[in-house]
Amino acid sequence: MTHTRLRHYLGMFPALAFTVPALIKRQPLNMKPIAVIPGDGIGPDVINEALRALHSLEEVFATRVPLEIFDYGAERWLREKVGLPPGAMEDLRKNYSAIFLGALGDPRIPDMAHGREILLGLRFGLDLYINYRPIKLLREDLCPLKNCRLEDLDFTVMRENTEGAYVGMGGIFKKGTPDEVAIQEDVNTRKGVERIIRYAFEYAKRTGARTVTMADKSNALGFGHDLWQRAFWEVAAEYPGIEAEHFFIDALTMQIVKNPARFKVIVTCNMFGDIVTDLGAQLQGGLGMAASGNINPEGVCLFEPVHGSAPKYAGKNVSNPFGAILTLELMLEHLGMAAWSRLLHAAVMSALDEKATTRDIGGKLGTTEVGDYICGKIKASCSIESLNR
Ligand code: IPM
Ligand code: MN
Repeated sequence: MTHTRLRHYLGMFPALAFTVPALIKRQPLNMKPIAVIPGDGIGPDVINEALRALHSLEEVFATRVPLEIFDYGAERWLREKVGLPPGAMEDLRKNYSAIFLGALGDPRIPDMAHGREILLGLRFGLDLYINYRPIKLLREDLCPLKNCRLEDLDFTVMRENTEGAYVGMGGIFKKGTPDEVAIQEDVNTRKGVERIIRYAFEYAKRTGARTVTMADKSNALGFGHDLWQRAFWEVAAEYPGIEAEHFFIDALTMQIVKNPARFKVIVTCNMFGDIVTDLGAQLQGGLGMAASGNINPEGVCLFEPVHGSAPKYAGKNVSNPFGAILTLELMLEHLGMAAWSRLLHAAVMSALDEKATTRDIGGKLGTTEVGDYICGKIKASCSIESLNR
């Protein structure tokens, strides 16, 4: 039976839609595999639920998504002193369609050396210069602000992701003595600053956002952020239809709390973007709700929830899987699988409506029970439309 005929019959008997797709042989999608790095702490817990959701989507769409799981993280680091093994970067760059990362961080590695090597290594090595972090309120009572409506909290932070204070340049002189000197360089290149700003404007243009806000600290950092100022206003001039505005980062954090509705696209440097997205995450309902994509428009991209590894909750079935599930949604969207990401989003929205959530956002369920709910919803919403690939 052709899919068209099948759709026709399913339209006549919607109840069949629950069973028929599962009977269709699952076709492997013609794509390179997704590299999955569950990582440390709660990383495996939340990635597991996201992958179960993905498997439910595979059933609905009668299509298999190739995956490959990697054990990069604290255990391997402690065992073999290896973060990213030799050749891994090239392998990921060439042979995978995306990277899906859980979290990195382990109390046995207090300086996070493995996390820097793996996460920052991939951000720099794959030149993932955009850290794309949408801040979107999905249910009003999740927001700690008074009277914040859904439409009031809906902006995207474009965090520069390959430069700034994160590059690891500097050193410590006379370490451990009263005379010690620690220098951490803040690196801003014309190319690096300009490309993230340009991406923010292009994104605003593509999504119909009226304003792009740049935040820096040029009143104190007269070299690096002077470059941000010049690059921003020069690029802004190329986009006359989009309003460009500037805030110093300290004032921006205040404004985000005071009047979040005015922001649509915020572009800022690596460190400020790190900080401001934790603020944004809390306004969305906490770190458990925040998703992110590390993007290079020309290459393989890495997707990770914003939360960390929260080691004390690992394996306890309490962590919120929505950060990872919403991150999966971003990844599917990025891979051009819009119907998949829409279905996943609808399942998350139902879970929020019905309070089928973990305790951090007011529910009573464990991590896996939330996953069960999401999988159930995805399969139940399997409709004629979902066959329409
Ligand atoms: C994040 C994290 C990382 C960062 C840490 C783990 C290095 O906080 O992705 O926001 O600062 O970028
Ligand atoms: Mn962070």
